[in-house]
Order: sequence, then C-alpha cells, then structure tokens
Amino acid sequence: MKGNDIFASLLPSSVYVVQSRTELEDTESYGEEERYIANAVPERQHEFRTVRVCARRALGQLGHAGIALVPDEKRAPVWPAGVVGSMTHCVGFRAAAVASTNDIRGLGIDAELHASLPAETLDIILLPEEQRMVGELNSRYPETAWDRLIFSAKESVFKAWFPLTRQWLDFLECRIILDAQAHSFHAEIQAKGSVAAEHDLTVMNGRWIAEGPSGQGLLGTCITVPLAAVC
Ligand SMILES: CC(C)(COP(=O)(O)OP(=O)(O)OC[C@H]1O[C@@H](n2cnc3c(N)ncnc32)[C@H](O)[C@@H]1OP(=O)(O)O)[C@@H](O)C(=O)NCCC(=O)NCCS
Repeated sequence: MKGNDIFASLLPSSVYVVQSRTELEDTESYGEEERYIANAVPERQHEFRTVRVCARRALGQLGHAGIALVPDEKRAPVWPAGVVGSMTHCVGFRAAAVASTNDIRGLGIDAELHASLPAETLDIILLPEEQRMVGELNSRYPETAWDRLIFSAKESVFKAWFPLTRQWLDFLECRIILDAQAHSFHAEIQAKGSVAAEHDLTVMNGRWIAEGPSGQGLLGTCITVPLAAVC
C-alpha cells in the first residue's frame, strides 16, 4: 500500500482516483448540489461535499473543470460525456475515481470500516456458498473480515453494474469468489432474465485491500469493466 492510499494501488493507471480522510471544501459553490442536500443531516452534507471535491480533482486530471455532480433520480452520479466514475464514503474516508470511456467501460469503488457484518444480515447479503467460503477463510486468515469484504465487493459490483444496465441487482443475484492470496475477486452475476448477458456483464473482476486486522482501518474494493474486445 502506498502511504495510506487505499485505491491507487488497486486501480490501473488510466483511472484517476482522489481520496481524503479529512473534510474538504470547494473554493466555488455549486448551487444544484447544495439544493440536493439542503435538508440532509450534517454528516451526509459533509460526505457529499467532500467526495465531490475529490471527484472534481480527479476529473481535473481528465481535463474536465468545474462540473456540478448532482445524483440522478436513482441516486447514481451523472458524469460528463466520455467519463465513467464512482464515489464512496464511510466514516472518516471519502474517495472518487474517474476514467475516460476510451480506456474503461465501467467502474465501481467501495470503502467500508473493517469489521464483521452483523450476524442477522448474513443471509440477506451472502449466498450459502459465500457463507461457506467465509467460514473457510476465517479459519485460515482470521485477521480479515471476509463477510464485510464480500459486502463491499458487491457494492462495487453494483456501482459498476447500474450505470451500464440501469437495472437493480440484488445481493443474492451476484456470487463473489475471493482470492485471499492475490487480493482479487471474481463476481458472477446471476441476474434475472438476460440483462447481464445482453450487457456482457455476466462476470466482473475486482481487487481488494484491507488496512490492518478486522476491527481496525478500512476495507476497499474496486471493479473495472474493460472495454469490449474488438473482434
Ligand atoms: C448505492 C449503494 C451501492 C451505495 O453504497 P454505500 O456503501 O451505501 O455507500 P457509499 O458511500 O460506498 O457509496 C455512495 C455513492 O454510491 C453512488 N451511487 C448511489 N447510487 C448509485 C447507483 N444507482 N449506481 C451507481 N452509483 C451509485 C453515489 O455516488 C453515492 O454517493 P453520493 O450519494 O454522495 O452521490 C447502496 O446504498 C445500495 O443501494 N446497495 C444496494 C444494491 C446493491 O449493492 N446490490 C448488490 C448487488 S451485487
């Protein structure tokens, strides 16, 4: 890991990522964004503003300046034409990643506090085969919160999936297979109908990182969807 940079080491060099562990403010005001969070609680306002400062800094590296980033009616970010991107925030951490659509087809990033999931959520988030994998990994590598890592991987999958398909995806419609040694994961989308196949999204591949042992630091996951192969 480079310093305390979570995502930089996980993403290809064509992806520009900016993260912050402190709150940031823009020098100019974005009225549309402020109206969107006018009634939100202060923590939501802070994460919303700071992650957008990160996103604008990342967009600057792609040559886009001063873009307001108001979520659409499904809460998905609206990026400038020719850009794919993703944002995440959790307590004490915010990050945004962007890339040109000339280089990457889809992008999803997610950060979570590194701690096990509440037991009552396991059946909602993890398939039976994922719960078995978590059991095996826990016995070999107890320092990592593998259940939370799968949750984060699924959030990254959703953030890459939704802008490309505009379809909901349930936690139990995606199976994550983790590689503990390579810090990578494989996602199999088992979604209803032929949506995944039509969009050539039946599988996705991602990478993960854990700061410190479970109970300390953050987990980070990311997905990049490569450009379709030219036949
Ligand atoms: C949308 C969702 C993935 C956000 O994840 P989260 O861990 O709650 O929150 P994060 O801070 O990591 O991410 C929030 C950001 O996600 C992005 N986001 C929200 N909805 C999105 C969507 N439909 N598509 C893509 N990105 C979206 C936004 O940029 C948001 O930040 P903002 O509200 O400041 O604009 C989550 O709330 C959710 O609805 N999950 C259910 C769907 C799902 O994950 N299914 C699993 C499929 S395998």
